[in-house]
Amino acid sequence: MDTPQAADTVLDDPVGRSLRGAHAGLARRRGRTATYLPGVATFAAVPSDPAPGDWADLAALLGPGALADLFSAPAIPPADWSPVFALDGLQLVGPVRTGGPDPDPDGVVELGAADVPEVLELVARTRPGPFGPRTVELGTYLGIRAGGVLVAMAGERLRPPGWTEISAVCTAPEARGRGHAAALVRTLQHRITARGERPFLHVADDNDAALRLYARLGFTERRRVRFTGARVPTSRAPGGSHLLEHHSGEDGRT
Ligand SMILES: CC(C)(COP(=O)(O)OP(=O)(O)OC[C@H]1O[C@@H](n2cnc3c(N)ncnc32)[C@H](O)[C@@H]1OP(=O)(O)O)[C@@H](O)C(=O)NCCC(=O)NCCS
Repeated sequence: MDTPQAADTVLDDPVGRSLRGAHAGLARRRGRTATYLPGVATFAAVPSDPAPGDWADLAALLGPGALADLFSAPAIPPADWSPVFALDGLQLVGPVRTGGPDPDPDGVVELGAADVPEVLELVARTRPGPFGPRTVELGTYLGIRAGGVLVAMAGERLRPPGWTEISAVCTAPEARGRGHAAALVRTLQHRITARGERPFLHVADDNDAALRLYARLGFTERRRVRFTGARVPTSRAPGGSHLLEHHSGEDGRT
């Protein structure tokens, strides 16, 4: 078993630790709550012991009727915030690697703002998890092209101190089984460990293909997580009592 280079307790609140740290420039805050700028990510952070005032701050930050994507936070929103999704998943941590040659294989390219339309198309076809038009600003995103067309990608998302989350790992159906995802994740693992950090990631607990891939690359389970989202109430009654409103039909994935 590898010894973590960085304290792994920051992985209990990866969104909050990122928004207060490496991603502070991409954050919007109110009181003790925070979220990402529109289009970057939907995730929101609340304290581990949220008081009614914290939920009021988050409601004001997100706006009436907005999705509060709480990622893996165990906090339970007030009763008038209608649940939108709850998904069981795993948080995995990668092995500590020590230097070695850069494994960047031929054909792995860095993706940037100009590639976003193609990236969004690949995400829509493969559904690796939530991804917005500005998500590539969170870190390095790498891709592999075949005949000029983007067929596989993976990138860096959350950045709690000492750690980088590998995310948006996906390969177009017609290009699977050729080692593209393994090459991309391995390249990111190398880059992350080369700067003294350690990789981690999240995966839905029924995603067998991805679980096999990550196990082969040395990732091990740190904890089980539940991803939840709730909808901010659209209106509040005078005097602070809340009017209940229900919404349904929204999907959410890791
Ligand atoms: C999970 C996913 C990214 C894997 O992508 P991929 O590029 O096919 O992955 P790889 O090619 O590296 O590995 C896939 C399989 O091909 C095999 N393989 C890799 N190179 C091979 C080769 N040259 N010849 C034969 N088989 C090969 C691997 O051993 C692996 O086998 P397994 O399914 O028995 O474990 C892809 O299925 C996907 O996009 N899924 C939908 C999005 C998603 O769920 N993403 C993960 C979110 S956490």
